[in-house]
Amino acid sequence: MAPSSTSLLDALSAALGADSVLTGAAVRERAASWIDPSPLEALAIVRPRTTAEVATVLQLCHTARQPVVVRGGATNLVQATRTTAGDLVLSLERMTSVRAIDAINQTMTVEAGAALQTVQEAAAQHGLFFPLDLAARGSATIGGCIAMNAGGVRVLRYGMMRELTLGLEVVLPDGVVLSSLSAMLKNNAGYDLKHLFIGSEGTLGVVTQAVLRLFPMPKSWFTALLAVASFSQVTALLSLLQHLLGAALTSFEVMWNDYYRLTTTPPAPNKPPLKQHFTYYVLVEAIGGDDRLDQQRFEHALERAAHNGLFEDAVIARTAQQRADLWRIREDSEQIERQYRPTFGFDVSLPLSAMEAYVARMRLGVEQRFGKEARCWIYGHLGDGNLHINLWAPSLQPEDADAAAQIVYAPLLTLGGSISAEHGIGLEKKKYLSLCRSPQEIRVMQQLKKAFDPHNILNPGRIFDLDFEESP
Ligand code: LAC
Ligand code: ZN
Repeated sequence: MAPSSTSLLDALSAALGADSVLTGAAVRERAASWIDPSPLEALAIVRPRTTAEVATVLQLCHTARQPVVVRGGATNLVQATRTTAGDLVLSLERMTSVRAIDAINQTMTVEAGAALQTVQEAAAQHGLFFPLDLAARGSATIGGCIAMNAGGVRVLRYGMMRELTLGLEVVLPDGVVLSSLSAMLKNNAGYDLKHLFIGSEGTLGVVTQAVLRLFPMPKSWFTALLAVASFSQVTALLSLLQHLLGAALTSFEVMWNDYYRLTTTPPAPNKPPLKQHFTYYVLVEAIGGDDRLDQQRFEHALERAAHNGLFEDAVIARTAQQRADLWRIREDSEQIERQYRPTFGFDVSLPLSAMEAYVARMRLGVEQRFGKEARCWIYGHLGDGNLHINLWAPSLQPEDADAAAQIVYAPLLTLGGSISAEHGIGLEKKKYLSLCRSPQEIRVMQQLKKAFDPHNILNPGRIFDLDFEESP
């Protein structure tokens, strides 16, 4: 260890207490990430308890020019938290408390290290609802959701994390605490600074607390899985349900046949509630505040869809268990990684009107490049124009990642789509950023980064590399 690192760690231990600075085996016994069980590599893990301690850590690291990588649940899918032996990991694991829930104003103030599920459950105890939801809810932290602008399964109705964040407390890379803990839905008093940090992947500051927007807890939940024969029927179904259910429609998730087959066939633990030969499977959810009226409305909407010939078969969840079972089929994307390696995962967005032709072209490209045995699992948040695509072929090697990316990304460019709909860029996708962001956009992002973090210590190398010299 370099002498300067030793003195930095000594200074951190002196300021925060020795038990706040883990090194050696205590670092390596942790997994690199949620999906990568290899040992975590880092100079140390620092575990502050308060915003003031986070500020101290960053002040010291700023002065020492020490790279810092912020860590919540490490559930991101783009290597946003990957570290090497020289990085200091700043973990929010001790800052997990729900500070306040305001039932009248429907807000929650929470520390960044709290798990998403903790936030959901704390809201529920007050009859309130925090609508952001995703499969990693038990581990993903609210700070990570903010840093990555998480999406998930209810964006159609409630928006992404950005729409659910009212205020933020952030520690800047030099240790300055920027407290913008406004709880107002409307606050046009100058720049809305929180938006700079939401989705910045921790490159501009460390989120330490947030004020979240809550909603009344729904009283009714209606979930159905529909088998659909053609893509035009999928989009017609979405349009009809939006029309008839309006804001009650929270989710419109689609699984292509291969995905449904995979997650409903052993060794996957889920049973297929509908036969496995249909082209598309749509998971629909609607919520409301009046069980009886909502049920009539939901059933009426499905009857109209049936009358219009928009689906071939359907199953409606009657119990909470059945509802969870339907969701599990959609959320069990782990099956891909478990059964096939290596696979390449993508998270794209594009206009619905272009999606069918895009998928056909992409599949053809995959087959031409990787052979007829190649597999393509497609699923995702179709109501948001967001598809997840996983590729595998018997011949696939890690070095094929670029070729696969070109096949998936190239057609997006003329469509105005994105190479990252909701997972972010991290380290993994930065070389493709320029496919869907202009040089001017990337330049402004880099200028912001330089203004906030002139020594490039905080989450360095995420999203982009800085292409200009550091100022002295
Ligand atoms: C999902 C994750 C992969 O939607 O974003 O399941
Ligand atoms: Zn997703």
